[in-house]
Amino acid sequence: MIYYFSGTGNSRTVAHCLGKLLECDVADMSAAQQIPDLGFTKSLGLVFPVYAWGLPNVVEQFVSRLNLLADDVYVWAVMTCGDDMGYADTILDKCLYRASGRHVQSVYSVPMPNTYVCLPGFDVDAPEVASAKVEHTRNFLPAIARGIRLQAKECNVERGAFPWLKTYVFRPLFNRFLLTDRYFYADSRLCVRCGLCAKQCPTGNICLSENGVQWGNSKCVGCLGCYHSCPHRAIEWGSATRGKGQKQTKNLF
Ligand SMILES: Cc1cc2nc3c(=O)[nH]c(=O)nc-3n(C[C@H](O)[C@H](O)[C@H](O)COP(=O)(O)O)c2cc1C
Repeated sequence: MIYYFSGTGNSRTVAHCLGKLLECDVADMSAAQQIPDLGFTKSLGLVFPVYAWGLPNVVEQFVSRLNLLADDVYVWAVMTCGDDMGYADTILDKCLYRASGRHVQSVYSVPMPNTYVCLPGFDVDAPEVASAKVEHTRNFLPAIARGIRLQAKECNVERGAFPWLKTYVFRPLFNRFLLTDRYFYADSRLCVRCGLCAKQCPTGNICLSENGVQWGNSKCVGCLGCYHSCPHRAIEWGSATRGKGQKQTKNLF
């Protein structure tokens, strides 16, 4: 069984591709009404994006409520990232161990088009860079699937420079000050109220009212799905996203 979380489609694509290669079911964590009873399941895959060199909080909540009972359960994870993941795998492992007394046995990071655009210097990838990442990952997934079939114990991840600093110093600051929907707005000159942003929000945090698009403040995980999915380029996060690009979804596999 594979559970995935995805804000803008990268991790969903990877999860479904692995599901086909491994011939197993694939389910969306954010659509699960309640935490599934995985009792004596023997193999569990988790696929999700890296956020601020750690886990999206929706993934952390999902994992911390899992109840795995089989002694020989094989847990693996594939994290998609724009560049590098710091010690996100350690955070995941600790979270799972606290919940179930089980460890993550294999972990991989795969590069996919970057979606983070809310700080100066961060933007979507140039089309050729995005295509190269997608191509690399598409070619790498069969090898990952082979390892998972053999229940290998692997750690094939891109930590990047200064991983400890990123995960244990920058990440808490990011979560405290930047992980907020307070600055989102839909530019009324461009927004046609099509509702696509609300429809794609994985946590149901957006609604349309007579005042336009409104963010709910409490459930936002900062995935930027609303920003990237707006066909009219109407959504901004304060002034930080002005002039930034949107992730292209056409050339995912
Ligand atoms: C809030 C946020 C934080 C991110 N942090 C990182 C990061 O620390 N390292 C990285 O390489 N990519 C980072 N990214 C990029 C995503 O991990 C990457 O684009 C991922 O493939 C998006 O997956 P999705 O389309 O399934 O949401 C971040 C993206 C967002 C929205």
